[in-house]
Amino acid sequence: MSKTSFKNPIFSGLDTNDRAEAEALARQLAPEIGGLKIGLEFFYAFGQDGYRAVAETGIPIFLDLKLHDIPNTVAGGIRSACQLNPAIINVHASGGVAMMQAAAEAAKETKGARPWVIGVTVLTSLDDADLHAMGVSGTAQDQVLRLASNAQAAGLDGVVCSPMEIEALRAECGPDFKLIVPGIRPAGADAGDQKRIMTPQDALARGADILVISRPIIKADNPAAAARAIAADLAQAA
Ligand code: C5P
Repeated sequence: MSKTSFKNPIFSGLDTNDRAEAEALARQLAPEIGGLKIGLEFFYAFGQDGYRAVAETGIPIFLDLKLHDIPNTVAGGIRSACQLNPAIINVHASGGVAMMQAAAEAAKETKGARPWVIGVTVLTSLDDADLHAMGVSGTAQDQVLRLASNAQAAGLDGVVCSPMEIEALRAECGPDFKLIVPGIRPAGADAGDQKRIMTPQDALARGADILVISRPIIKADNPAAAARAIAADLAQAA
């Protein structure tokens, strides 16, 4: 059985290499948000110990390690990651259907609730020209839809996507396929380096399941208050 519900749809990225700051943020945010995203920078620096220190606060974790290797190796990586009991883990959908199937099967071996296994389609740092250079014809949007459909066929729970892709993916993949969406900014917040942003309310209305919102929360003077304000806006809009 997969994990199903979170306190709210907000996940914040622990985009820091400062372990004390990460642990303090986890304590402050555990009562306020659905979960925290731990990525390569944090995990390579602090490993399972750092992960456990954050997870001890009780906050659900999205372990964003984007696995991409042969099916057997990815399955092994997923089995090891599942011992940490993350709520969400991910693999690159471009690793192929067999690789994604191996990931989904490996996650099912988890004792108790298994994590959602999510596909990364086209990195938002890549544009059509980058894809053509890799031999991919068509547009980035075509490739996102193709890879999402492969991910669904392989038994993954959903994909990461940009706010602009939510509606097309919802239409293509149906209501139960999880859409995890970064590039979210509350009205008036600094966009930073995000180019195509959407408000939390709009992204949810279009069909997002999880909103990844990092800097507007973790860089706020009071991260807990910032998270609470976004959650309250979402609850009001619902
Ligand atoms: O601070 P901000 O809200 O822009 O952070 C968004 C988080 O989501 C970061 O951890 C970023 O690396 C991640 N992300 C993203 N765009 C993607 C995939 C992941 O912004 N396409």
